[in-house]
Amino acid sequence: MKRTVISMPGDGIGGVVLDEAIRVLDAAGFEADYVHADIGWEFWKSEGNPLPQRTIDLLAKHKIALFGAITSKPKDKAVSDLAPELRDKGLVYYSPIVAMRQHFDLDICIRPCKAFAGNPLNFIRRGPGDTIEEPPVDAVIFRQNTEGLYGGVEWTNPPDDVYNALMTHPKFSRNFGEVPRAELAVSTRIFSRAACTRIMRAAFEYAKEFGYRNVTICEKPNVIRETSGMMREVGREMVSEYEGIDLWHTNIDAQMMWLTKNPEDYGVLVSGNMFGDIVSDGFAGLVGGLGFACSANIGDEVAVFEPTHGSAPKYAEYDVSIVNPIAMVLTSCMMLDHIGETAMAARIRNAVEKVIADGNVRTYDMLKLRGCPEVLEQGAASTREMGDAIIAALEGE
Ligand code: NAI
Ligand code: MG
Repeated sequence: MKRTVISMPGDGIGGVVLDEAIRVLDAAGFEADYVHADIGWEFWKSEGNPLPQRTIDLLAKHKIALFGAITSKPKDKAVSDLAPELRDKGLVYYSPIVAMRQHFDLDICIRPCKAFAGNPLNFIRRGPGDTIEEPPVDAVIFRQNTEGLYGGVEWTNPPDDVYNALMTHPKFSRNFGEVPRAELAVSTRIFSRAACTRIMRAAFEYAKEFGYRNVTICEKPNVIRETSGMMREVGREMVSEYEGIDLWHTNIDAQMMWLTKNPEDYGVLVSGNMFGDIVSDGFAGLVGGLGFACSANIGDEVAVFEPTHGSAPKYAEYDVSIVNPIAMVLTSCMMLDHIGETAMAARIRNAVEKVIADGNVRTYDMLKLRGCPEVLEQGAASTREMGDAIIAALEGE
């Protein structure tokens, strides 16, 4: 059956990595029509909207999307980059990724961080005596993707009703009651039980399906009692439905320390939006970093698959692209899994695994070189050559 997949290259290196992922999908025999959709800084500049309505319509229609990356710039740059005729219209830049997640309620973010054998970027640590250990990291982070600190409910100089409501809280009136209102910035952290339940359910189901023995809620309920506390409560209520899976609790700060002490102990992790963002980058760093970090944003209707990395503008203009396409290729495997093409996803992952283990083709990041055009003369593979190697491994099965 031929699929329709929205392709959103976005800005910077988004396009080159997406091209490689699609070449790999083609080579694996995935049959699809790719429908291009506009997103990113280009459209902010030219239209004052980084996520045009036509893109929302395409996503609503076709439901599945591969997304490269976008560029965001600070407030002042956002205005000065606008086309002259748009500059005095009072337009305010917003992140099209956050907007997309909220519009389609893509509330389940999945970020697998699995070490590939032979990846020179894998985390190593000192073992007993003079030994070096390379722990087999295989953690999958489930991040609540729409609420919490990134929910966008925030004010500087909060309006009367918000301010007055805050003043009814004794801790607010005591600690901030004397602060001039114009000097107050408030960003809220709101959790809903429904969203906590959905992310927790998704995490437990994933653990059950793929044989993970523990689900760790990584929050901070001892301090952030209401929101983290709600996540903890939801997890406790659910765990009894999953025989053989233990529920663990860690605090985000301690988790970042345990990350390097015993990362192999963790299986599935669940966090709210910001802590999920943090802990997933932490685990990604143990398995090769941005060149390897893939993710999925999943809602009831629509799912968008994107690498964790951004648009890396400094590498976007190279004549020959040097960035690692593996994160995007693994991202497309997550898409295949989502639509039930699990065997094809496994074949592509095996091909990636083989290329990494062989060690003959490595992008600059894998060689620990500083990114510049000359890395190609120093033995680094280009983006295209890495794509070629994965395709060759697929075809040589
Ligand atoms: P970035 O992820 O674009 O780049 C950070 C560094 O990581 C790069 O300098 C490069 O050394 C490395 N890197 C990134 N992707 C790589 C790859 N595929 N292979 C090898 N190395 C890779 O993040 P940065 O520099 O903080 O942001 C650049 C732009 O991207 C900004 O405008 C930012 O707002 C945007 N961004 C967008 C994201 C998205 O679209 N989801 C996520 C993060 C940043
Ligand atoms: Mg992040």
